[in-house]
Amino acid sequence: MSIRRLDKRVPLLELGPVGSLMPLRAAAWTLAGLLALAAGAARAEPVLMPQPKAVAYSAGALPLAAPFAARASGCPQPLISHALSRFAADIARQRSLAEPQGAGPTLTVRCRSADAGYLSLEAKAGYRLDVDAQGVRIDADGPAGALHALATLRQLVGVGTEPANAPFVRIEDAPRFAWRGVMVDTARHFMSLTALKRQVDAMERVKLDVLHLHLSDNEGFRVESLRYPKLQATQHGEFYTQAEIRELVAYAAERGVRIVPEFDVPAHTGAICAAYPEIAAAGDPADAFAVFDRALNPASEATYRFLDGLLGEMAGLFPDADFHVGGDEVSDAAWSHEPAVAAFMAAHGLKSRVEMEAYFHSRVREMLARRGKTAVGWDEIAATPIPKTVIVQAWRNANATGLAVAGGHPTIVSAGYYLDQLMPAASHYAVDPVDLQGDGLTSAEVARLQTLSPLAGGAARPLEIKPMPPLTPEQETLVLGGEMALWSELVTDEMLDARLWPRAAALAERFWSPRDVRDPDSLARRLPVIEDELNLLGLQADASRARMATRLAPDAPDAVATFLETVAPSRYATHNQTLRAMLAGQRHPPPQRLTAPADAAPVDGAAALRFELAARRLAAGDRAALPVLRAQLRIWAANAPRFAEAARGHPDLEAALPVNADVAALSAAGLDALDAIEHGQALGPGARQQAAPLLARALAEHEATSRPVFAFLAKRPPADLIVAIAPAVEILVKAAQTGA
Ligand code: ACM
Repeated sequence: MSIRRLDKRVPLLELGPVGSLMPLRAAAWTLAGLLALAAGAARAEPVLMPQPKAVAYSAGALPLAAPFAARASGCPQPLISHALSRFAADIARQRSLAEPQGAGPTLTVRCRSADAGYLSLEAKAGYRLDVDAQGVRIDADGPAGALHALATLRQLVGVGTEPANAPFVRIEDAPRFAWRGVMVDTARHFMSLTALKRQVDAMERVKLDVLHLHLSDNEGFRVESLRYPKLQATQHGEFYTQAEIRELVAYAAERGVRIVPEFDVPAHTGAICAAYPEIAAAGDPADAFAVFDRALNPASEATYRFLDGLLGEMAGLFPDADFHVGGDEVSDAAWSHEPAVAAFMAAHGLKSRVEMEAYFHSRVREMLARRGKTAVGWDEIAATPIPKTVIVQAWRNANATGLAVAGGHPTIVSAGYYLDQLMPAASHYAVDPVDLQGDGLTSAEVARLQTLSPLAGGAARPLEIKPMPPLTPEQETLVLGGEMALWSELVTDEMLDARLWPRAAALAERFWSPRDVRDPDSLARRLPVIEDELNLLGLQADASRARMATRLAPDAPDAVATFLETVAPSRYATHNQTLRAMLAGQRHPPPQRLTAPADAAPVDGAAALRFELAARRLAAGDRAALPVLRAQLRIWAANAPRFAEAARGHPDLEAALPVNADVAALSAAGLDALDAIEHGQALGPGARQQAAPLLARALAEHEATSRPVFAFLAKRPPADLIVAIAPAVEILVKAAQTGA
C-alpha cells in the first residue's frame, strides 16, 4: 500500500451520542498502515517527554497490526475521531507500513466525561494508558486526557523502519500544572498562519496547552479590525484576517490548545499610535528611544472609547475566557511630555506614573469584565493592589512570582523561560516555576553591573532577586503553571521552529511532569530523540536551516550546514545589532537581516548534543563511543577547509572564519585526545599545551554570554557565534590526561 492512501479522509468511526458509554461500532481502520510485528523484537526503552507520573513496563510488545480497530466512548465528536485520524497518520510516518493482515488489536478510548471545562484551566487532562496483549486501552478523565494519552502512545511507538508496535505498559498520568504555555511574538516579526498551526501540532505532541499570541506592539497590530481599519493599513498584508483567527482557534481547539490573545496596552503601542495618533500621548522629540516609549493617552476619554471598541471586537474573535492586556514596560518618558496626563493625575489624586497605570488598567479590566473575560497582565500590573481575580504573568525575575502570589493572584511563570535569550534547554529546564530564586541576577551581580556602567545597572535592576521565603503549599496552588516566551526581534517566520524547538519540549516536561523529574543527563539523552521525532512529524527546523545554509553559500550549502552543527548563537540579545546601534546613539538603524550564521545556528543542535553524550560515555569508560566520536570529529575537521573555501566573497561567512578555525583546532585537539585514550596513554605535553588556551578561550566565550546584561558587556565573539562543541572536547581532553 502507498502512503498516499493515508491522506484520504476515510470516516474512522461511527459516531455515537456524545457522552454515551456504549462503545462505538468497531470500525476497521482502513487507513491502516500498521503492520503486525514479530513480537518481542528488542527495542530500547521508549523515549517519553514529558515524562509521565507513573510508568510500569512489562515484558512484551503489542504489534499495531492493520486493520486497526478503534472504539471511542464518552468522548466528544468529531474531536476524538479527528484525533485518532491524526494519530494514525503520525504512526504511519513514524514506523513502516504494510498491507492489512487479519484482525488487528483494538484501541479503546473512553472519556469519563465529555468535560464542559475542556480548553480551560479546569480541563480534565489525566488519563490511564494500558498496552497489553489484548490491545491499547485509554481511560481518560476527559477529552484533553484522551489527546494526551495519544501523544504518549505516539512516543511509545517511536520512530523506525520496523513495523509499529507498542511495549506492554501501564501509565498513570496527569499534569502538574494546568497552564503549559508558549508565547509567540507575532508583532516584531509576523508569523504565518501555517507556521502557527505547525507549532500547535508540535504542542499537542508534547502536551502543551496554551498558545499565547502577542499580537500588537510598536512594530505591528496583527489582527484585522473592521472597526479600526487604519490598524491594517501599515501592515503590508502581514496580519491575520478575522477568518484566519477563527480558523486557528478551531484548529488549536481540536488539539487541546487554547489560544490566548494579547493586545499590549498602554505601552508597546507604537503601531496603534501611528495609525490613530489622536489617542496617543505626546512623546519626547529628543528621545532616541521614542519608539519604545510610545504609549496611549490615559487622560483622554477618546482612548477608552477606542479601546472599548477595539478590545470588544477582539474579545468577540477569541473565545478563550482569558484575555491578555500586556501592561509591561511603561517608561517614565511615556507620559512626561503630555500635559493632559499631569492634569488628569492631579485631578484624580494619582501620585505616580504607576498609579496612573493602575487607573488605566482598571478601566480596561472593566471593558473585559463586561464581556465575561478574565484579564491577564505582565507582572507590572500588580505593582498596586488590584482584584485577586486578575491573572499575573511573572516575567522580570523569579521574585515576581512570589509577589504576585502574595497578592493572591493566579500566576503564570515566565521568568526563566525566555527562549529568545538563546540559552540551552538545560538551563531553562533547571528552573522550577515555584522556585522564587530560580531566575534573575543576584544583588552582588547587580551591584557589580552598576559599577561597570550606569546603563548596565539600570538594565540589571529589574532582574535582581532577593531572598524570599518559599511558597507555602496553599500559595503554590496559585501558580497556574509556566509559559515560555519567544520574543521575535531576532526570529523570523522561517526561524520559528528552530528557535522554539526542541527547547519547548524540555519545558513541556518542566510544566507537566512531577517536580522531581529534573535530571539534566536524562534530558540530554532524550531531547535529540524528541527533536528528531517532531521534525519527522512536520516541524521545519532542519529544512529551514538547510535553506538558510543554501542562501549563505549557494555553491556549498553542505559545508555551511556542517559548520552550523558545531556552533551556537551568542546569547541574551547580544546578536541584536539594531539594539547595539541604538545604544551607540544611532537613532534609526536599519533593520537587521536575519540571514547570518548566528541566525541559522541551533541553540541545542542535535549533532553537538549527541557528540557530548558520546564524550560523557567515553569518559565514563564506554570505549564503544570512541569510533563514533572519532568519525564525527574527522567530519568536522575535514569540513573546515571546505567552509573556508565556501566563505570566500560572502561577508556573513567570512565573519565566521575565526570560529571555523577554532572548530578545526578543537576537532584536532579532540582527535589527539581520542588517540591518547585509545592507546591508554596520557595526552602529550605538546597537545595539552595547544588545547589548553584554545579550550580556555572557547569556554570563556560560553561563560561570558551566559548571564543577562553581563553578556552585553562582554567582548563580542566573531559572527556572534560560540563553539558549541567546546564543552565536549574539554571532556575528551580531560579524559585523556590520566592515560587511564
Ligand atoms: C516583557 O518581556 N516585556 C513582558
